[in-house]
Amino acid sequence: MTESALDHARPYLTAMVAELTKAGAIRTPEWAEAFAAVPRHVFVPRWYEQETSDKGFAVWRMQHAIHEGSLARVYRDTTLVTALDPETAEKVDETAWTGIPTSSSTLPSLMAGMLEDLAVDDGHRVLEIGTGTGYNAALLCARLGEQFVYSVDVDGDLVDAAQRRLSSIGYEPQLAPADGRLGYPTGDKFHRIIATCSVKDIPESWPAQTHPGGVIVTDLDLGIEGGLVCLAVDAERSVYGQFTTTGGRFMAARGNAHTYPRRERAPYAPETSTHPTNVTAADIRTHYPFRLLLAFHLPGVELVYHSNDATGAMSLQLQHPDGSWARVPLTGDHLDTVTYGGAPEIWQQVEAAWKWWNDAGRPAQDQFGYEREPDGHASVWHIPDGRRWHINPT
Ligand SMILES: C[S@@+](CC[C@H](N)C(=O)[O-])C[C@H]1O[C@@H](n2cnc3c(N)ncnc32)[C@H](O)[C@@H]1O
Repeated sequence: MTESALDHARPYLTAMVAELTKAGAIRTPEWAEAFAAVPRHVFVPRWYEQETSDKGFAVWRMQHAIHEGSLARVYRDTTLVTALDPETAEKVDETAWTGIPTSSSTLPSLMAGMLEDLAVDDGHRVLEIGTGTGYNAALLCARLGEQFVYSVDVDGDLVDAAQRRLSSIGYEPQLAPADGRLGYPTGDKFHRIIATCSVKDIPESWPAQTHPGGVIVTDLDLGIEGGLVCLAVDAERSVYGQFTTTGGRFMAARGNAHTYPRRERAPYAPETSTHPTNVTAADIRTHYPFRLLLAFHLPGVELVYHSNDATGAMSLQLQHPDGSWARVPLTGDHLDTVTYGGAPEIWQQVEAAWKWWNDAGRPAQDQFGYEREPDGHASVWHIPDGRRWHINPT
């Protein structure tokens, strides 16, 4: 990237830092300085924006930062998708593809919030899981110095590209192509671990590679919902902390460099009955903390959208790995009815959780703690009264 491109980007970068500071995402002068030092467009020279094709389906259209009028878009507070799974991506025309995103440059306000939550200090050694474009690694280099920054991505091509971009602006952190759920390949120890992909539970290697007193910030995917947690690691390798006020979700960690494994699902149980209910699809879709609570109540259950083959009517469906399910309509005259397939326990739990959440004053996500013991046992609890849920993945 030429000096003139950098000069051209400077006003956008300055405006982005001001916006992130005003919004409360950047909270300290150290991070304001780091954000102001790193041009995002160097790390996101091209990306994909979603649009609807002539035939009515969603496609990803490639955009280039160098194109007239595009540079400003790299400095908006938006997530920019930067890679698509080659196994699902199909070319629609010269610049558009379908497919599932496998990498992105995260929403800058979300990154700022997580970096602030990480509470780094000078001299801290940090491991990032999910190098992606390298932008977050560059921010860490600007804040701490390149010798303290380590980052891994499961996709070696992304690591190579990130390394080149980091070098181009003078940073040489330690990068490696690796499954970050196994930690850093050389087994180094860190004061901080930040993951920009989600995990179903805290991998054993993370507390093992963290100094006692260190901090882990990650997105925990608990099935129906998940969220960002900020966790302290103790000398016995227990991790203990809470869900953060910083809201945001990440793409799931995968073992394969370029693609997600196909999810195996049990066949749907046959429909058993329909009942009135006091919990609607809108209640679940509107209230993030309630969805998180549902994930505590129903480990292993997924939230999916179901389309009726005959009528095309859409429903929100909770689906157990054993094939049982419960479904509430998204539109129509029967919003307060639930239909079951298999055992009715799923919706009984939803109604119980709705009652508990309302009786408890609708607590937000940061009212819940998270703990993982060294034997892998994980639980969450409501901080004000200690009510606890055991959430080991099924
Ligand atoms: C949201 S992107 C990361 C954004 C990145 N921090 C940046 O600043 O551009 C998530 C990344 O996690 C990576 N990833 C997925 N599974 C992983 C795993 N098991 N270990 C390491 N990285 C993984 C993806 O390849 C993707 O690049």
